[in-house]
Amino acid sequence: MTIQPGDQQLPVILVGAMTKDRVIGSGDGMPWDIPEEYRTFVDNIRGQTVVMGRKSYEVFGPDLSEAKPIVVSRSRPQLDVPVVDSIENSLDLARTYERKIFVAGGSQIYALALPHASWMFLSEIKEDYDGDKYFPDFDRSQWEVAREDEHNRFIYREWRRVG
Ligand SMILES: NC(=O)c1ccc[n+]([C@@H]2O[C@H](COP(=O)([O-])OP(=O)(O)OC[C@H]3O[C@@H](n4cnc5c(N)ncnc54)[C@H](OP(=O)(O)O)[C@@H]3O)[C@@H](O)[C@H]2O)c1
Repeated sequence: MTIQPGDQQLPVILVGAMTKDRVIGSGDGMPWDIPEEYRTFVDNIRGQTVVMGRKSYEVFGPDLSEAKPIVVSRSRPQLDVPVVDSIENSLDLARTYERKIFVAGGSQIYALALPHASWMFLSEIKEDYDGDKYFPDFDRSQWEVAREDEHNRFIYREWRRVG
């Protein structure tokens, strides 16, 4: 994926990890600790733009030190990174940065961003975990797996929108 300066067609990529049942979180946090999966996430977002919901940013903001974060919030808290009031405004701002645009959750923000996404970089955690936050259900006939890597505790897939 090559990015040209001023490119208005930068693809939006959802990135995250979920169980087979689409669990992504429990309360504020994630119900698993899988360092190898975390490294995959960090390698993807390093140096790129990361759009995140205000709740997730409160927990995972420190993990984004190597990325350029944009926070989506209606309440608009004062933060030391840009805060915008809609997913559309976050993507408009992200396009001015001329970097890859990742949307890294949580549940509410994935749902808002899914219609804008042309890629999803998702780790499927092999073990089942309980949780109360979910990745949105998506129509698998509209997506194809462009890459799949098997790991010990998860399967990493890059989904490309085809429909
Ligand atoms: N497994 C993974 O890869 C992964 C990744 C990230 C997060 N997570 C998990 O996801 C969970 C958090 O997800 P969540 O859904 O509760 O929160 P979230 O999506 O991170 O953030 C929700 C916040 O986004 C803002 N927001 C929501 N809709 C909006 C809209 N239409 N316009 C403007 N702002 C809007 C609101 O902020 P204000 O309240 O400030 O207005 C809302 O409280 C946690 O359990 C976390 O661990 C998992």
